Amino acid sequence: KLKIAIIGAGSTYTPELIEGMIKRKDVLPISELVLMDIDERKLSIVGNLSERMIEAAGLSCRVVKTDNLDTALTDADFVLAQMRVGKLPARVLDETIPLKYNLIGQETCGIGGFFKAMRTIPVMLQIAKRMEELCPNAWLINFSNPAGIITEALLNHSKVKMLGLCNVPYNMFKSIRETLDLNQPDITYVGLNHLSWITAIEENGTDYLKSALDMGLNSEAMKNIPSSGFSKELVQMVGAIPSSYLEYYYFKEKKLKLLSESELTRGQKCIQIEEELLGIYEDSELHSKPELLSSRGGANYSEVAISLVDAIYNDKQEVHVVNLLNNGALEFMEDNDAVEVCAVIGKDGAKPVPVPGFDNRHIIDYMRMVKAYERETVAAAVTGSEDAAMRALLMNPLVGDYNSAHDCFQELKEAHKEYLPQF
Ligand code: G6P
Ligand code: MN
Ligand code: MN
Repeated sequence: KLKIAIIGAGSTYTPELIEGMIKRKDVLPISELVLMDIDERKLSIVGNLSERMIEAAGLSCRVVKTDNLDTALTDADFVLAQMRVGKLPARVLDETIPLKYNLIGQETCGIGGFFKAMRTIPVMLQIAKRMEELCPNAWLINFSNPAGIITEALLNHSKVKMLGLCNVPYNMFKSIRETLDLNQPDITYVGLNHLSWITAIEENGTDYLKSALDMGLNSEAMKNIPSSGFSKELVQMVGAIPSSYLEYYYFKEKKLKLLSESELTRGQKCIQIEEELLGIYEDSELHSKPELLSSRGGANYSEVAISLVDAIYNDKQEVHVVNLLNNGALEFMEDNDAVEVCAVIGKDGAKPVPVPGFDNRHIIDYMRMVKAYERETVAAAVTGSEDAAMRALLMNPLVGDYNSAHDCFQELKEAHKEYLPQF
């Protein structure tokens, strides 16, 4: 018996996950799939398409659609969480209000990401508490953003077994393999979620990082980031390949200008794509994932998620990049800091692969500063301390200014008040 529950299954991304399950149907004999969401309309449209996909692929698994969390969690083996508290309209507030204060408005970075954490952490902690009761041995695989901060919160404030996921590392590895024409390179990936770098590339004893830097090799442009890319000078100065999310940090002023000038925010565009997708999903002749879904930033995340479930369930002892507690892997971070690194995955969970003697000072110091932000962010989310919130925002390189942080915090707090039980 293998029961998988998807929390936030009304997401238009769900067909991606279903496709991943279908692809692995021989190694993942799912007996029960519970699709849980509080949005009835989306759950019904996305759930019906999921059922058609499963039937067309000949999977013999029971599919349950529910708005009840306990029904979903009871005796689950894997719980996949992909929620967006307050949905896309809340994201649009995170993207637009900061601009008034000359701050980056983005869903996972800066003060927008901070408020996404404030909304999401209480709900995720609630789910974790129910899991401790209803499925204490289950794995929680989370892609709800901000995924790194959610991992930091849950692994330090609950007893669940959990891993945090993002598609950025997968897409970076893929583009490196393709650009450098490598098969199975040994890649060192160091960072926090949406703040990460590739610091070594090796295959058959040959070091490819230097040639990558000489080429000015860029990380794969993510669909959701208006990408300008990094220059050769920049990557050589850093001594590593930054993920495209570093553009918000390294090109803060330019990004701010781009965001302020753009007619629609990414969230507003996603609202349009989502409605269009739901229209397509409603077609009862559709039995597969439509092409339009690939215009969202989450490309390949089903592969990331379901291959991780496969690696745990089938004890594959494979290396995946996940968010988990550092536990000594990076000597310069605390043991209980959530980091995004390579880990060996098997039935007993994930063991981070140590990166001994890491000495890129720029990366070390940047990670520690942003981790200080993340730690205070979790403290603010859990206790509702506005002092902790201000300390967090002062440590965030995309905020850093007390007056704008204070005033923008107050406005966002008011705007999101129905989703902020802690304040
Ligand atoms: C990437 C990030 C995700 C993020 C997504 C946004 O995939 O890794 O964490 O949720 O982009 O894409 P969207 O289409 O919603 O802008
Ligand atoms: Mn991500
Ligand atoms: Mn005040």
